[in-house]
Amino acid sequence: MAKVVIAYHSGFGHTDVMAQRVAEGVKAAGVEVSLRKVDVLDDALWAELAAADGIIFGTPTYMANVSAPFKAFMDASSKPWFGQLWKDKLAGGFTNSGGLSGDKLGTLQALVHFAAQHSMIWVSQGVWPSAYSNDGKGSNRLSSWLGAMAQSGNSPAGVDNPNAEDQASARLFGERFGVAVMRWSR
Ligand SMILES: Cc1cc2nc3c(=O)[nH]c(=O)nc-3n(C[C@H](O)[C@H](O)[C@H](O)COP(=O)(O)O)c2cc1C
Repeated sequence: MAKVVIAYHSGFGHTDVMAQRVAEGVKAAGVEVSLRKVDVLDDALWAELAAADGIIFGTPTYMANVSAPFKAFMDASSKPWFGQLWKDKLAGGFTNSGGLSGDKLGTLQALVHFAAQHSMIWVSQGVWPSAYSNDGKGSNRLSSWLGAMAQSGNSPAGVDNPNAEDQASARLFGERFGVAVMRWSR
């Protein structure tokens, strides 16, 4: 069975909710998925990443970029990078922040460059933005193309925080990624 690992950081739980939605989407595509926080960089994490068919990277946007713990993970990945252990795996990314924009695009671009350094193959968001369809569903409300975006208020994380439509879009992204992994690893 194809396997996806979601490697992510969440300081206050909001990106965590987004990661759960992405995981549900991957699972709905019939693909095994594991959620791995990158706060602890142990051997088990690197082994799981090396064995995965696809890796989805997730981080809150802090100061227009990935969070410091996520950057520590990126830097620590220089070992698998040196052997190009993730080469030709599928990659994707998601981020969550307080602002509607909040410069989330900068974070996704950092993740794309990171995946490219590992010679991975990037899967985009692939959900038509509701700004163009007016179908009332609110899918891809933030009109992101590169990866999944969500916006959260300052209150604690929960069913509506991140924004519920952004959570649904994260699930759609996960499903698209799962389908892509199945095709790629066939
Ligand atoms: C150090 C720090 C920097 C932040 N920088 C940004 C930012 O650049 N843009 C933005 O929209 N929100 C910013 N925020 C808000 C967070 O992105 C927001 O609270 C998010 O939901 C946190 O996700 P988490 O609960 O997974 O940590 C920042 C928060 C912190 C703590």
